[in-house]
Amino acid sequence: MVDGGRLWRRLSELAEIGKQESGGVTRLSFTEEERAAKDLVASYMEEAGLAVREDAAGNLFGRREGKDPDAPTILVGSHVDSVYDGGNFDGPLGVLAGVEVVQTMQEDGVETEHPVEVVAFTDEEGARFSFGMIGSRALAGTLSPEELKHEDANGISIADAMRDYGLDPDRIEEAARQSDSLAAYAELHIEQGRGLENEGLPAGVVTGIAAPVWRRLIFTGETGHAGTTPMVLRHDALAAAAEVMAVIEDEASSTGTSVATVGQLGVEPGGINIIPGRVEISVDLRDIDEGTRDRLEDRILTRVRELCEKRGVGFETEVLQRMVPVSCSETVRGAVRAAYEGLGLEPYDLASGAAHDGMQLVRLCPIGMIFIRSRDGISHNPDEWSSEEDCATGVNVLYSTVLDLAGGT
Ligand code: HGY
Ligand code: MN
Ligand code: MN
Repeated sequence: MVDGGRLWRRLSELAEIGKQESGGVTRLSFTEEERAAKDLVASYMEEAGLAVREDAAGNLFGRREGKDPDAPTILVGSHVDSVYDGGNFDGPLGVLAGVEVVQTMQEDGVETEHPVEVVAFTDEEGARFSFGMIGSRALAGTLSPEELKHEDANGISIADAMRDYGLDPDRIEEAARQSDSLAAYAELHIEQGRGLENEGLPAGVVTGIAAPVWRRLIFTGETGHAGTTPMVLRHDALAAAAEVMAVIEDEASSTGTSVATVGQLGVEPGGINIIPGRVEISVDLRDIDEGTRDRLEDRILTRVRELCEKRGVGFETEVLQRMVPVSCSETVRGAVRAAYEGLGLEPYDLASGAAHDGMQLVRLCPIGMIFIRSRDGISHNPDEWSSEEDCATGVNVLYSTVLDLAGGT
């Protein structure tokens, strides 16, 4: 049987890396915090008897061989990077549960047909650079060296951050794996929403994953004197951005299913007595249906161009990342459902509003996810929390799922 107490202890140990005063964590990609987190996970993998390696993108793998050396791998894992001041479960739960699953197999002398690999992907969150899933995109072969030119807020490019971290960005394409090398990908994650809590259930079966499009919107007005410029003569970039944010909220709310978030805002020159001349905001638009999301995006951009025209404010925009919603495969969902039934649990289906690395892996193999309950649906927040009991339930479901997929006896 899996050892829920060991999983809980490891979650608590990992939570100390990048800890903030708030009790949350900040572990951005290619930083010493992410390095320290991967080193700690690597030590757990070694305790579990796994062969440990890192690929050209910094993805950390722990491999346990199966009976058939030529059989494709069952991959299980998540990420250990975080958002700014994030929670202690988003990512680490899936990585440490993967280690717990294979360590339990090792301790119980369980043999599988397929090899099983646990992975901690690099930079799932995209908190440091203007897009995420660097590790899983590199593994899926969809990340070009060109994209490594993107810079963080301090002007450090992904390529330079990789070099500082000890990686060679020119070799990023070596991280790509072939479709026939992977048989399935399974991830345990916190729900980060209220669905399971509202149903009074500890865990659920993920049906599909909503997809974000991230844009940068730039408003160029006219810097001016706050005291001498009549309201009718202003081209106030921040007033325009404020009206745009109300439009974004209004349009997303009117769909009933989409969500929209403006998480970043930059104002120049930023003086109390200066009319803002330039404002930059980020927008994150999501829906489980790609058409609904993209029509929302079009409606917002049309209204933004009209209101900027009216205000005499320039407008430009660039797409930072555009993902496609994915469905979890019947292969993996079937194994997850059977795991629930084997444990006497209800296999409750729900979609994921949050994005996950499986959206990249789906290009290579069948994917599936297991969710456990999040208290008050809180995530990307120091108060993110799931109970030790629900974590143990989740890892038990993951164990049975991986055993099924890997042909374990
Ligand atoms: O943004 C997301 O949905 C995920 O937490 N990276
Ligand atoms: Mn996550
Ligand atoms: Mn997250």
